Amino acid sequence: MSEKKADYSSLAQTLSWKDGVLTLIDQTLLPVEVKFEEQKSIEQVWDSIKKLKVRGAPAIGIAGAYGLLYGVKDKTDLSREAFLRELRKSAEYLDTSRPTAVNLSWALKRMVSVAENMKESTAAEMYAALEKEAVTIHDEDRAICRNIGLNGKVLIKDGMGVLTHCNAGSLATSELGTATAPMYLAHEDGVRFRVYADETRPLLQGARLTSWELQQSGIDVTLITDNMAAFIMSKKLIDLAIVGCDRVAANGDTANKIGTMGVAILAQHFNLPLYIACPSSTIDFETESGDDIVIEERDPEEVTFFGARRTGPEGIKVRNPAFDVTPHELIAGFITEKGIIYPPFKENLKKVFGE
Ligand code: MRU
Repeated sequence: MSEKKADYSSLAQTLSWKDGVLTLIDQTLLPVEVKFEEQKSIEQVWDSIKKLKVRGAPAIGIAGAYGLLYGVKDKTDLSREAFLRELRKSAEYLDTSRPTAVNLSWALKRMVSVAENMKESTAAEMYAALEKEAVTIHDEDRAICRNIGLNGKVLIKDGMGVLTHCNAGSLATSELGTATAPMYLAHEDGVRFRVYADETRPLLQGARLTSWELQQSGIDVTLITDNMAAFIMSKKLIDLAIVGCDRVAANGDTANKIGTMGVAILAQHFNLPLYIACPSSTIDFETESGDDIVIEERDPEEVTFFGARRTGPEGIKVRNPAFDVTPHELIAGFITEKGIIYPPFKENLKKVFGE
């Protein structure tokens, strides 16, 4: 494994926490404008998650952890019990912002349990511990993404084409991304490969975010629309697909951005491996299979408008599921911070990550 420390200064820091203030890049404005937005309240953080100003499973977990601090920062003169009540209420509220990515509820639960375990402490002491925990969650994510990169980069070899869908990049995490981490580290090692980024309708995370951040870092990236993936694969331009995930069920079924299942089916047809890049915080052993994953349905206007332009008739019936579930049989492996996990997933995920 490479010990070389890279300079990732060209990668935008999606989230930062300084002097009690959370600052986010407003990802809805990319790639036209890089605007940093200071968050002033828990309601604003909720809204930023809901509107996808901050998005991507690990990033919304980190934003949730910091957001929780806004909910209780003025409550440090309360009794321990009253402070805990406010904390739980704030966590429940933030958890309603988006349902599919388990990282949000994972981070909120982790934060609440830190305070619950401080049996003899004052509210002020609990607040200080919570702030430390949120920063730890953020820092851990940096290390996890790096290890995903180190474990996954061996899959990318000279001359290969790699397809990715949506944005599981630095913008969706603390630094290197999950699906993009193997790409960044392979690139740093001098491997010459091409990335094809699906544009990812309806909100274009692939076009607006992935192709933007890979281009910035000097990786050879080509943007395609979602319906071009089959053609590009048929021309033998793709050797493997790497995507991120929002929730992995105990049996390996994986929720990720809508369209991922289509990529998986195509990959199977063309006999290409599909890898899911996955921090352990995205594995949900309490969810048995993909059937039990709640899929977020979003505003129909995301489908009937393309930017400001109406592209569907008024009053048309619309479905807008934000995620789909790729059955585990279509997945070659999970690239995690602890190595690549191969089938049988139910047994092997449990062996590596289960309690
Ligand atoms: O709706 P989004 O943009 O939050 O969806 C994001 C994805 O589907 C990502 O692939 C996933 O969260 C992994 S991010 C490392």
